[in-house]
Order: sequence, then structure tokens, then C-alpha cells
Amino acid sequence: MNNNAIRYNQLDPAIETRVEALLTQMTLAEKVGQLVQVVPFGSLEPDEMLKRIQEAKETGASFQSVFPPRPGINEDIRNGTVGSILNLADAALVNQYQRIALEESRLGIPLIIGSDVIHGFRTIFPIPLAESCTWHPALLEQASRVAAQEAAAVGIDWVFAPMVDVGRDPRWGRVAEGAGEDPFLGMAMAQARVRGFQAGDLANGRRVAACPKHYVGYGAGEAGRDYNTVDISERTLRDVHLPPFKAAFAAGAGSVMSSFNEIGGVPVSANGFVLGQVLRQEWQWPGVVLSDYEAIRELIPHGVAADLKEAARLAILAGVDMDMMGDAYHQHLAELVGEGIVPEVVVDEAVRRVLRLKMGLGLFERPYVDESLAAQVTLRPEDRQLALQAAQESMVLLKNEGNLLPLSPGKEHLALIGPLAAARRDLLGTWTLFGREEEVESVLAGIQGHLGSEAALSHMPGSTLAGDEPIDAASVVALAENADVVIMVLGEGHNMSGEARSRACLGLPGRQQELFDIVAQAGKPVVVVLMGGRPLIVPKLIELADAVLMAWHGGIRAGQAIADILFGAANPSGKLTTSWPRAEGQIPVYYGHKNTGRPMEGTGTTQFMEPFKSRYIDLPNEPLFPFGYGLSYTTFVYRDLIVETPVIDANGSLIVSAMIQNSGSHTGTEVVQLYIRDVVGSVTRPVKQLRGFQRVTLQPDEEQRVRFEVSVHDLGFTGLDKQYVIEPGTFKVWIGPNASEGLVGDFEVA
Ligand code: NOJ
Repeated sequence: MNNNAIRYNQLDPAIETRVEALLTQMTLAEKVGQLVQVVPFGSLEPDEMLKRIQEAKETGASFQSVFPPRPGINEDIRNGTVGSILNLADAALVNQYQRIALEESRLGIPLIIGSDVIHGFRTIFPIPLAESCTWHPALLEQASRVAAQEAAAVGIDWVFAPMVDVGRDPRWGRVAEGAGEDPFLGMAMAQARVRGFQAGDLANGRRVAACPKHYVGYGAGEAGRDYNTVDISERTLRDVHLPPFKAAFAAGAGSVMSSFNEIGGVPVSANGFVLGQVLRQEWQWPGVVLSDYEAIRELIPHGVAADLKEAARLAILAGVDMDMMGDAYHQHLAELVGEGIVPEVVVDEAVRRVLRLKMGLGLFERPYVDESLAAQVTLRPEDRQLALQAAQESMVLLKNEGNLLPLSPGKEHLALIGPLAAARRDLLGTWTLFGREEEVESVLAGIQGHLGSEAALSHMPGSTLAGDEPIDAASVVALAENADVVIMVLGEGHNMSGEARSRACLGLPGRQQELFDIVAQAGKPVVVVLMGGRPLIVPKLIELADAVLMAWHGGIRAGQAIADILFGAANPSGKLTTSWPRAEGQIPVYYGHKNTGRPMEGTGTTQFMEPFKSRYIDLPNEPLFPFGYGLSYTTFVYRDLIVETPVIDANGSLIVSAMIQNSGSHTGTEVVQLYIRDVVGSVTRPVKQLRGFQRVTLQPDEEQRVRFEVSVHDLGFTGLDKQYVIEPGTFKVWIGPNASEGLVGDFEVA
């Protein structure tokens, strides 16, 4: 844990004095300017845009240099009508714009440069969902620090990350960007990533601010469709969706992005309850609320604003401080103040928050970036090593029939089949604006590295990733039949998850399932490496394959990490942070559901006993693999649960422990999980709630007593009166390897 992380969530009296002094000098137009964020480039026709991106890739030119500058950008900066620029990653351009802001604008206020740096800048780490499967916050902290360091070197001050939306619907493409379905785990990951991004000791002396997003409820869109309507109760909002944000702020985050969605009829970017009451009144948080891209303008299609002026009014009064690309504040805010519709004090408060962040970042003292630093953004060996570790720890072994894995290099003749076997770009996953395909290790390369020569390996893609091209079944079968073991690399491409990439059917895209069926018929042992930004619904494949490794999109070192796992150089330890559904019809399926009055297990209705339960007639309720699930090459035995505190009082802690033993023959790391259940509450409680986890590495036969301490304050919930309460009564507690197994005990809160 990095204790040097800078905090932007606290008021610093020295900064407050400077903010006030500056504010008194500002004209209304200059104030509004601080609240405007734009992209630096002008618009291009899509074809022209693609052509130029291609050219840039070929010539190595920077992304920005191939785009025409936004018309009037220099003038706007000079006039102080732009306060921030987004998605600029070119040190020379950053300096050019900063020079105009500093030397040519009346007050010399520096710009703040924001960008989407989500799971790495140049050193691309696994997608965040994968990273969360490491259950290793310290590792995420380091990875975020690397990203911050690289981003800062090209002049980025502000990263639009981490995404801390709780995601319980894998149809939603953005589950790839979050930490899974659980708020408790989400809090830990959010804090780690904020601390990493905001590390106070970046080698280049610069600072970066995190911007947790998307505040709030964005992950709860109906039917898993991106940007869709959200209607959640205040209790669920408070107990599930808000906690990761609160945790991110507690770790020092001083900005947040307001989301696109509505909640119960009020779009968030005009929602005085979540922006005003919760953030400002209840939490007293002094940070900047930045709208998502055009989210203020989108209040018009949402149907709560008749025009852009009304959108601007709603957003500023609700508490959105900065307008990302909506043009609403730029065009209408001064006018609204002039007409007395928006009090100037509201604008002043928003400006204070922005200036506070800029001053906290040291931008007034260090506005320029050393252009020679950009050349130092290379893949450093230690960062590549970290990316490898993150990839290895993120992968989840779902099945390993007869211990087919690990394979012995050189012993078996291997066939490597699948459209992702030699892929590189796809392994970078979603959100890699600045990652480079040529720096990615493919699975093919990783396997060849272990084998030493290509002799024992035959390879063919077998099918395309998507699309409908016919498969040459005879060649596929011939390749499979000649091998002792077939490794298939199947799944989603990088652009099938992430923003605007919702899917209704979560099977393998294109004809990949058919490819698997053809291979399976050859009767050879089959190992499937699945890639994707979400759990894939492939029950038949999982049933027929001998071994299945979920490798997600693992970043630049993914190919090496996969090969290391396949050949036993790394022992898998990743565990799912999202329940793995059997069918789309089960969604949302998550471990922390409610019991209902007619549960499957235990007592419920007496009406005709059996059938009238909360269940499906055609599938079990349970997911195929539960939250927290993942295999290792070794096995772990759980025994001797001891509840050391059978009764805890109002300020006490639950202390509970269990003995974990490595009962297999490999050294392995187990993610030991602690769950609780409040048996009777004034409002219904989830059947299980994660309240602790620890990674424990054990040699064969080694055992360790794993002890957890949970403060009674973490056992509460939003009660009947919407206040956080901890109610006395009986709780159950489990220590186990996942959400559906474990040793159970109980305790009382007195
Ligand atoms: C829209 C996305 O929702 C958000 O996550 C991102 O940061 C912005 N665009 C800026 O690119």
C-alpha cells in the first residue's frame, strides 16, 4: 500500500486562500471557461478519421498530430473560455496549449489535461474485470501507478478511471471495465486504483488525479443495454452502487464523472439527489463533478430539457461542475447567470472545485511537461514483469478434468487452433487508446517460447473471429487428430466488450462454437483458452472440453501468461468476481441476492410444497460457476472454523478464523473468502455478503490459520428510515473458497 498517495478530497487552507484570491479576479466568462472541457481536434468524416489513424500507425506519428486542431482552440484558450482538454496525449501539444493558457490568457490559469487511461497507458495490463479476479489490490495499485507514470510523461494530469460501477449484467459490455458484481470487493479495488493513480512519488515528478466513474448506477441499465434506463431503489443505490465511490473518495479521489443514465426518471447529470444531497450534503465531498461526454446535452433526448440552455441550467443546479463536450455551459451558462436564473454563487462554487484540483495537482507551479520524458515512455522491464504477474493472477481456471493441465512442454504434440491463437490486438482489450499491438505477446508466441522449437506444435486459426466464413472441417480435424492435445483459443475480440458493446447472446461470436464442435469430434483431449470482456455462455463447450481457462483480455503479456499457466510455470489463482451464468435468461445472477418468501432452500411457502418456489422450471437458479470460484493445480482443504467472538457489541469486531491446508502437490495461492449473513433485519438482507478476503500462498502440505477481523460497522445496511443501521441479532459467517462453499458458523451482534 502506497502511503504517499496524494489526496484531492480534502481542503487545504493554503490552497483555499489562493483559490479565493484568484476567483475574485475572474470575470463571469472566465469562470465559465474553467467549467468547459473539449477535445483538441476538430471533427472529421468517419472514413477520413480511420484513414488518418491508419497513417499514424504506419508512420509512427502521434495520434493527435494527424487530426486537424479544433477550430478556434487557440483563441478559446487565450480568452480563457476553455479550462480543460481531454484525450490529448502529445507532450509538445500539451505544452503548446499550456503556453497559450499561461502566457497569453489574462489570468494565466493552466489547463488540466484529462484522458481515458483505464488499464494501462503504454504498458497495457489486463482489463479491469480481469484484474479484479486477482483479488490482489496491492497489484492493482502498482499497475495503476505504472499507468499514471506513463500518462504523466506525455502531459496527462487526470485519468478517467477507475470505473467503479458495480456490474451484475454481463450483457452490458462495460462489465469489462469494472471490478465485477460485488460492492465490497469493488471498494477495495477502487481504493487501490485511486492510490496507484495518485501516487505521490512518480519518477517524473508530475502528479495525476483519478476520476472514478460513472456516478452512479450506470451498471444497472435495463436489459444490459448500454446507456439504458435505470430504476433502482434508494436502498440498493446506497448499499450496492454508492459504496465504491465513497471508498474511492476516502482514498483521496477529488473528482468524479457523472453518468449518462437516469435513475427513476431523473438523469444523473441533472440529479440533485445523488449529486447534491449525497455527494455534497451527506458526504461533504469537495471534489469536481465532470459530466460524461455530452451527458449534459443528452438531457434533451432524455426528455427533461427542451433545449441546451435548459440542459445547462438543470446540470449546474444539480451539481455538475464541468461540462465534457456538451457545449451547454460554454453557450449558455453566462447567459443563465445574467438572467438571474442561475445564481453566480453556484458557478463560483464549481469554479472553486476546478481550481482546487488544478492547484492540488501543482499545475500552477509545473504547467509544462518535459518533452524528453515522452521518449522515456517505453516498456520498462519491471513494468512488463508486473503486467505478466497481473495477467497470470487474473486468469481463472474453470475446469481441469483429470488434471490434464499443466501440460509438459515437448512431451505432447500440440495442435493450437482458434482465431485468437495468434491474435495480438484483441489481447489488449477495450480502452487501450495508447497501447500498441506490436508489443503484445500472442498465445502462439508464448507457447513457442516454452516449446523451444515449433516442432511439437501445429497451428491454424480454423475460423474467423466473427462473421460467417465456412470452416474447412477436414483440415481442422486432420490437425486435431495428429495431436496428443488440442489447445483452442476462442472468444470475443477486443471490440466486443466495453462501451457501447452490449450483447444479447453471450455465446462465442461467429462460427467459433461450430469450430469447437468439429474439434471435439476428433476425440482428443481439448484445452480451451477463452478470451473476452465478460463471462461467456458456452455451457456445451464447458461440458465437453477437458480443461477451460478464462484468460479475459490479458494485456501485453497475456500470451506469455497463458503459456506459463498451460505448462505449469505459473499456477492459476484467479477467482471470478462475477457469477458465470448458465444462460442469458438467468441474468442478473449474483451471489448476494435476496432470499425471497419462497426460496429454493429452507422454509418458504407451504402451498403445494415443491413447485411454488422462486425458481425456473428449466434451469437451476445457481450460476454455472459461482462468484469467487477458480481452480488451482493444487487443492486446498478448509477446516476448524473458530468464531472467536460469538457475541460482539456496538463497537466490537467479529474475529473468525479457519485452517487452510494445501492438500495437493503444487505450491499454490488460495483466495480465502469471508461471507456473512444478517439472518433477520428490519429490511430483507442478501443471503450472503463478502466481508473479507485474503490471498494465502502455501507449499504442498503446508497449513495456515487464516484469521479475519470485521468491524461491526461493516455489518450494517440502509434501514427503514434510509439511515445506515447495524441491527442486533444473529448472523451467519462462512469462510470458504467461493460464494457457494465454505465452513459455516454464527455470531450475535448484541
Ligand atoms: C464516454 C465514457 O462513458 C467515459 O467512460 C469516458 O471517460 C468518456 N467517454 C471520455 O472518453
